[in-house]
Amino acid sequence: MLLLTLESSCDETSAAVVRDGKTVLSNIVASQIDIHAEYGGVVPELAARHHLQSCPVVIDQALRKAGVTLEQIDGICVTRGPGLIGALLVGVSAAKALAFACDIPLVGVHHIEGHILAPLLENDIEFPYLALAVSGGHTHLYIVRHIGAYELIGHTLDDAAGEAFDKVAKMCGLSYPGGAQIDQLAAVGDAKMFNFPRPMLQHKGYNFSFSGIKTAVMTQLKKMESPLEADVLAGLAASFQAAVVEVLYKKTLRAAQEYKLKRIVVAGGVACNSGLRQVFTKSGATEVFFPSAKLCADNAAMLAVAGEYYLNQGITSDLDLNACSTWPLEQAGAEMLDLQPETKNIGG
Ligand code: KG4
Ligand code: ZN
Repeated sequence: MLLLTLESSCDETSAAVVRDGKTVLSNIVASQIDIHAEYGGVVPELAARHHLQSCPVVIDQALRKAGVTLEQIDGICVTRGPGLIGALLVGVSAAKALAFACDIPLVGVHHIEGHILAPLLENDIEFPYLALAVSGGHTHLYIVRHIGAYELIGHTLDDAAGEAFDKVAKMCGLSYPGGAQIDQLAAVGDAKMFNFPRPMLQHKGYNFSFSGIKTAVMTQLKKMESPLEADVLAGLAASFQAAVVEVLYKKTLRAAQEYKLKRIVVAGGVACNSGLRQVFTKSGATEVFFPSAKLCADNAAMLAVAGEYYLNQGITSDLDLNACSTWPLEQAGAEMLDLQPETKNIGG
C-alpha cells in the first residue's frame, strides 16, 4: 500500500509517502520555527495560517521526491489530534479533500501514536514494549501491547519535559525552541556545577513533574549576575539536563522492570536529546529503540505505521472527520479497535 501522510498539529507542516507502512519514500517537513521564534513560542493563529500556505507545497514535494503521482496513492493518513485546533484543521481538511477527490480511504490517527510507533519504520520491534513519549506537550509512559492497544501508566503532572527545556532556555536568553540549544550547551558544561532537584524520583508510580526543576533554575539565575559567563551558562544547561534525564531514565527503567517489559521505545522531540540517548544506550539491560533524528521531531512519515495497519484492517475515517485538540491516546486506540467491521468508521 502506498500511503500519503499529513501532519500539522503544531508548528511543522509535513507530508510523506510511505510504502507498506515501512519504507519511507519521502518525508518533507516545513518548519515554522523562524516565524514563532520572535514571539518566544508558537502563536496558534500564525501556525494555522502558515500551515495553509505550506500544505500544498509539502504534499507536492513529497509526491515528487517519492517519484509517484496522486493517482498512485492508495490511502491518506492524517494527524487528527491532539494539538492546536486551527493547525490540526488544516491537515485534516486537506486530507479529507484529497481522499474525496481521489476516492481513496482516509484515516485520522493520534499524534503520539505516530511518535511511539515511529521506530517500527526502522526496526523490527516485538510487542509489547514500554514507550516513553517525550515532546513539547507530552511526557507519558505507555505500555504498547499492540497498535491501538495502549495503557497509560504515568504522565507529567505539570510541564512536559520539552516544555521545561524550552522555558529554561528562554530564561537563559536562548531563542525558541530551546531544547536543542540546551543540549548543545550541556555537551560542553559541567553537570555537577549545580545540584537541581530530581522531582518525584522516589515516588511510587510513574508520574513526573518538571516545574520544580524549572523553578530551581530560575532561583539560581536570580542569584547570579547576568549575562552569565559562558562556562556558567553551559554548567547550568548541563546540570538542568542531567536532572531531567535522570528522572526520565530511572523511572522508565523501573517501569520496564516492574512490568517485565524487555523493550523500550523513547520517542518525541526530546528523544533527540544526546544526554537521554546516552544514558539509555549505556544501560545495556534492555533493548532500547530511539527513532533517528528525522523521525523524532514532528514529521508525517511517523504516522504511516498506524495508518497502514488501520487501513489494512478496514478501519477508515468518514469525510466528516473532525480534529481533536485533546484526545487521550488510550481512548484513540480503543476507538479504532473496538469498531465492528460493518461500522468500522471513526468519523466525527
Ligand atoms: O515532538 P516535537 O517535535 O513536537 C511536539 O509534539 O511537541 O517536540 C518538540 C520538543 C520541543 O520542546 C523541543 O525543545 C524539544 O522537543 N527538543 C529537545 C531537543 N530537540 C528538540 N529537547 C531536548 N534536547 C533536544 N536535543
Ligand atoms: Zn510531536
